[in-house]
Amino acid sequence: DQHRIAIIVGSIREGSLSRKLARAIRGAVPQSLDCGTVEIADLPLYDPDLDHEPPAPWTRFRQEIGRADGVLFVTPEYNRSIPAALKNAIDVGSRPYGKSAFAKKPAAIVTMSPGALGGFGCNHHLRQCCVFLDMPVMQQPEAYIGHVSDEKFAADGSIADASLAKLMGSLGQAFAGWVDLIKAGRAALAP
Ligand code: FNR
Repeated sequence: DQHRIAIIVGSIREGSLSRKLARAIRGAVPQSLDCGTVEIADLPLYDPDLDHEPPAPWTRFRQEIGRADGVLFVTPEYNRSIPAALKNAIDVGSRPYGKSAFAKKPAAIVTMSPGALGGFGCNHHLRQCCVFLDMPVMQQPEAYIGHVSDEKFAADGSIADASLAKLMGSLGQAFAGWVDLIKAGRAALAP
């Protein structure tokens, strides 16, 4: 089956390594995954008081997530946790109460860092959010990508590092299978 995947990049800076990695993953995933990046940089800070007249970027974000069959997070960690821009996007998408755009969507999480730990802290804090958001998160392969630098990417944006390219390829394969499985399971359970 063909699946529409919303990629959310957790860094909003120009030259972001996470964004480069996300772009490279798009080129490495199976054709059954139709990936598009959903932008978060323009989302005003979530404020429940604005939900009676939501800012246009909130509505745009919620619609784009709502249309997706699955969500792929590609993000650095900030202070061993979720970057604020990404947490804000999660909060925006999760509301108004009872109308979360994320609900029941299968997800995968790739965290990365120029350092050694590969964003492990953020990876698991994000998993905690996904439990409450009712998003089944793929468990294997895990992706804590350490030592990321511009040198890991070729001029055309693909991954130059062979072992990283291999991991991203198997992650894409596994995620395609994961989205299949969750969609089929939900269809079987539907009344
Ligand atoms: C960081 N960085 C960082 N790295 C890490 O491995 N663990 C951490 O806890 C943090 N904390 C942190 C906080 C803040 C406020 C910043 C700005 C940075 C470094 C970070 O991984 C590095 O800047 C990455 O390049 C950020 O990802 P992008 O923007 O390149 O995608």
